[in-house]
Amino acid sequence: MPNRPKIYCACDVPDLHSALNLAQQMDGLPIGIKLGLEFFMGEGLNGVATIRRKHPDTSIFLDLKFHDIPNTVASALRVISDIGVDYTNLHASGGLEMMQRALDAVNSVPNPARLLAVTVLTALDDDALGAVGQQVPVADQVARLALLTQQAGLAGVVCSAHEILPLRAACGNDFILMTPGIRPEGSANDDQKRVMTPRDALLAGTTHMVIGRPITQSDNPRQAAEDILESILNA
Ligand code: C5P
Repeated sequence: MPNRPKIYCACDVPDLHSALNLAQQMDGLPIGIKLGLEFFMGEGLNGVATIRRKHPDTSIFLDLKFHDIPNTVASALRVISDIGVDYTNLHASGGLEMMQRALDAVNSVPNPARLLAVTVLTALDDDALGAVGQQVPVADQVARLALLTQQAGLAGVVCSAHEILPLRAACGNDFILMTPGIRPEGSANDDQKRVMTPRDALLAGTTHMVIGRPITQSDNPRQAAEDILESILNA
């Protein structure tokens, strides 16, 4: 299995050609590839398998954010369990039993992917959470879901970099904190609400960062990735 880099480039593209092009541009850099729903809807498991085959040394995070009843999520994860990705995920709000059954499914193969749980999407803030009936501060909801994730035995959570400090305190040092919503100095927030720079996120204690549009929408994605790597040197 490839070593696990600190940065995953979100390949939010619908087709294999564009994803391979991005993966190619990251080649040789300590950067993994995150394949999400857009790619999966366009190219499916065969597309993931092709990226795996053509980039055997690249770490892959398959970000499908499963959320359904325990049996359905476990069955879906069993289907993708031997594809050879390094990380995959589900929504912690699906509950304890769903996470436990999912973990058993993922672990049914040798060299299983590590399973992470999404706490609260980084595109949601207190107001947006309240609007869906969760009248608690985002930080409290994130902490509650992270503890539930840990109780289920998963490897870590996907959360905003703003939640790193309390989650480290609550969940200990071995728990993976994968943080999207990362924006290099001076770049647009897009639809993300709880953002942080790569350097600040690393200093706060993130273990892995997901960075999409600041790399993929740049005129020169490789240069953008190299600039980000440069910005976290010695962090
Ligand atoms: O372009 P940007 O850097 O905002 O991309 C962030 C990526 O991380 C997207 O692919 C998005 O689906 C994913 N993500 C997120 N918030 C989460 C979990 C995943 O933004 N809580």
